[in-house]
Amino acid sequence: MKFFVDSADVSEIREVASWGLADGVTTNPSLIAKAGRPYTEVLREICDLIDGPISAEVVATDAAAMCEEGQKLARISKNIVVKCPLTIEGLKAAKALSARGIPINATLIFSPLQALAAAKCGATYVSPFVGRLDDLGQDGFGMVAQLVRILKNYDYPTQVLVASIRSPGHLLRAADAGAHIATLPPSVIKQMLYHPLTDLGLESFLADWHKTKQKI
Ligand code: E4P
Repeated sequence: MKFFVDSADVSEIREVASWGLADGVTTNPSLIAKAGRPYTEVLREICDLIDGPISAEVVATDAAAMCEEGQKLARISKNIVVKCPLTIEGLKAAKALSARGIPINATLIFSPLQALAAAKCGATYVSPFVGRLDDLGQDGFGMVAQLVRILKNYDYPTQVLVASIRSPGHLLRAADAGAHIATLPPSVIKQMLYHPLTDLGLESFLADWHKTKQKI
């Protein structure tokens, strides 16, 4: 399973990359707004840092303008994946951009049939937003498992990129459902690496080792 970093904060992406856990990055307009820096500058820095797919989202709402924005974003780096929302206009843009060889991440997906439509239009990635469904008490992970099965049934090469992950439990359920990729806020990556028994175990190993007065 691949881990992408769900962030537009270059320093935290750099930190996760130094742990060996950043196979790619996803951004969205809200994350860019939070970073408070020029969009293309941030994207360039991320592309220089990470040798993997970097999702950059269009903000236009009609297909022609989405295509223009998508082409501009794709010119930033060969790593750019253009994120199109799962609207009819977004699907039209996804089809046109993917026909030009630009990889697409179909975003804001909340049902398996939306994902199937994106796969038919050539999306390289589909992003089901599990946390937002979970917030409403709906079963995001049942949906992920179902859409993984559906894409497999028809041999679509489209990869399932689980988004809107809020906790290590979400990541576990995404992996269990067979998702290819999870995009993770750095805080969730830190949380999932922590276990109190690891810290306690290390503490007692080191205490015993110091008693031996040896060195390696
Ligand atoms: C990533 O591609 C998504 O934009 C992101 O995971 C959305 O997360 P949120 O629901 O926490 O905003």
